[in-house]
Amino acid sequence: MNYIAGKWVDTATKETFRSINPSKKTEVIGILPKSGKEDVDRAVLSARNALKKWSLTPAPRRGEIIFRAAELLTKNKKELGRLVTREMGKVLPEGMGDVQEAIDMAYYMAGEGRRLKGETVPSELPDKDAKSVRVPIGVFALITPWNFPVAIPSWKIFPSLICGNTVVFKPSSYTPVCATRFVEILIEAGIPEGVLNLVHGSGGEIGEYLAGHKGIDAVSFTGSSSTGRRLEAMCGTMHRPIISETGGKNPIIVMDDADLDLAIDGCIWGGFGTTGQRCTAASRVIVHSRIYDKFVNGFIGAAAKLRLANGLEPTTDVGPVVNEEQFNKVLDYIRIGLDEGAKLALGGRSYKKGACAEGYFIEPTIFTGVDPKMRIAQEEIFGPVVCVIRAKDLSEAIAIANDVPYGLSSAIYTKDVNSSARAERELDTGIVYINAPTIGAEIQLPFGGTKETGIGHREAGGSGGALDAYSKWKVIYRDFSGRLQKAQID
Ligand code: UN1
Repeated sequence: MNYIAGKWVDTATKETFRSINPSKKTEVIGILPKSGKEDVDRAVLSARNALKKWSLTPAPRRGEIIFRAAELLTKNKKELGRLVTREMGKVLPEGMGDVQEAIDMAYYMAGEGRRLKGETVPSELPDKDAKSVRVPIGVFALITPWNFPVAIPSWKIFPSLICGNTVVFKPSSYTPVCATRFVEILIEAGIPEGVLNLVHGSGGEIGEYLAGHKGIDAVSFTGSSSTGRRLEAMCGTMHRPIISETGGKNPIIVMDDADLDLAIDGCIWGGFGTTGQRCTAASRVIVHSRIYDKFVNGFIGAAAKLRLANGLEPTTDVGPVVNEEQFNKVLDYIRIGLDEGAKLALGGRSYKKGACAEGYFIEPTIFTGVDPKMRIAQEEIFGPVVCVIRAKDLSEAIAIANDVPYGLSSAIYTKDVNSSARAERELDTGIVYINAPTIGAEIQLPFGGTKETGIGHREAGGSGGALDAYSKWKVIYRDFSGRLQKAQID
């Protein structure tokens, strides 16, 4: 059901859609309302009505509610983690990790309720003070993806709420049950009615309508580049702030002095963890010529050992892709890679052994001898496909790494302090890892990237992170001299 103005309600349309388990297509996880414009109108109105009271609630009180949400998420972590695995497909430890990220974010943002710092600075004039304070932006439209069905909503909902905004939350229609359960927990934590509203439905039908709604003040979106671009354009013409995070084509550079076992491990988990369905996934591995053959052999050997199955089974390394659309898209890219002349060194097909025939499984796939200009090396595939590219030295590796439209995350494996320092400076991405894969960003630092990866403020914590994204500055001068200070108007 939708959650609007403090109540679980049916849609005006009375239409529904199903959420299914990608490991077992016949298992229905939930039947959800397919909202229409009228439902969005109601949710936006509810958020608008709740805005004044919530924004005037002292931030430490707002923080206490979010703290309770952290405690309840911790209590429900196992159940919610299993639900993430059943609905989205990632393996159970990652399902739990998804929830843990939300817990971390909740504790972190709860603490911000007692900070939300502004500045006081001296005035130029006597008997006058000058300060800046953070104020809410208003009603936020939050549109979230399916690959982190609990974590990414938490990155948007908690900072929105701590800053005093109210929210209309439109989760991906591929993971609506996770979103529903998450909202139930937040309500149990004590979020007042109208402050958080949930509408289900497809992005095309209601997502864009919501983002462009006249009752919305700002938008935060994580998802595909094509949708991001449309929303960015729309918000641009409406003079509406948007935080948009859309994609990556993240490289790992493996230098000739790298610890090869460590690098292979990093490329395996960076490339095939979450079945490659992370914005931060390592989809390109750029390898120094001198160790290319040795690395490729080791990498293929390790990837061939990955066990595909339902993510609930403890021995599973890699789960399915999320649904039929993604399944077809990934297989299409594999065909494109073959047509472009890349060498298919491993995988490349759907995987149908045993119970996997009932789900959307694709073999971990490695292309070698990839030219950096090929489409498979330039476009985000968002699946278990890694391109291996050869480079003659660090300069060439960095040039290849940077020569894509995206700039979210990057990594280098090297033991040379100078190489790591150069990579750190020259890799044009929002996040750089040294001797670690491209995944695993922590919530207390800003998250986001350069170029087409996104626009607007970064998300998550730290200086320049979510507080800047979800609040705006107000500057206040107070003159207590009791006279018109002439210098002011000169
Ligand atoms: C994403 O894929 O959109 O850094 C987010 C990571 C995770 C978040 C990924 N903490 O891989």
